[in-house]
Amino acid sequence: MSLLDVKDLKVAYGGIQAVKGVDFHIEAGELVTLIGANGAGKTTTLKTLIGMVKKSGGSVTFDGKDASTIPSHDFVRHGLAMVPEGRGIFGKLTVEENLLMGAYTRSDKAQILVEMERVYGLFPRLKERYKQLAGTLSGGEQQMVAMGRAILSRPKLLLLDEPSMGLAPIIVQKIFEIVRMVAAEGVTMLLVEQNAKLALEVSQRGYVMESGKITMTGNAQDLLADERVRNAYLGD
Ligand SMILES: Nc1ncnc2c1ncn2[C@@H]1O[C@H](COP(=O)(O)OP(=O)(O)OP(=O)(O)O)[C@@H](O)[C@H]1O
Ligand SMILES: [Mg+2]
Repeated sequence: MSLLDVKDLKVAYGGIQAVKGVDFHIEAGELVTLIGANGAGKTTTLKTLIGMVKKSGGSVTFDGKDASTIPSHDFVRHGLAMVPEGRGIFGKLTVEENLLMGAYTRSDKAQILVEMERVYGLFPRLKERYKQLAGTLSGGEQQMVAMGRAILSRPKLLLLDEPSMGLAPIIVQKIFEIVRMVAAEGVTMLLVEQNAKLALEVSQRGYVMESGKITMTGNAQDLLADERVRNAYLGD
């Protein structure tokens, strides 16, 4: 059974269909990328997975459960964490407080401290700035906080929406390096990215979304080599 199984998912905003019946699945341990143009419905799809947006049709099965039976405040406890577009960090809290928010459903204090150190190992910049208010961090640093916080919730599935958006190339490289490392530790991920090339390079599989529909799917290597993908998303 797949960790995530989405069937014929439909989402409408006031009569306008943003997602028009998509099917996809993610197996435990996979890193899967969803690419597509602006407005294709990628963020909407992710939001629907964690109950932030209500679907109008279809089904989402996560870890053997019908996801629509999970209350929206309970997704983290069920193992679904999302790093949203725009990051959703708490600007008035410190770096350390933001990271600890990720572990709020956990009671294993000693282990949380061990993992905090591991997150600081991934992002040494955050360690240097652990008392700084997150709202005063640079964009790249805020992205690191958002990812660190999600990692601390120990997700079964981590949803990343445009982690490289608005960041300088060197920071983008760093973020993708972290994605690779987190994946290597066995965390299953669904990555939504405008930077299709980097995203496909770290992924095993990918889906292409156009105007609310999945129009292509395959191994990341095959998608990278596909002429239509190259023309539309890789700028070749
Ligand atoms: N809250 C909303 N109310 C009405 N329409 C919305 C809402 N959120 C998104 N939409 C519309 O749904 C469509 C899909 O938007 P979505 O944010 O899912 O796209 P996306 O693929 O994530 O795009 P981008 O790459 O620009 O982030 C767009 O046409 C958008 O305008
Ligand atoms: Mg989006």
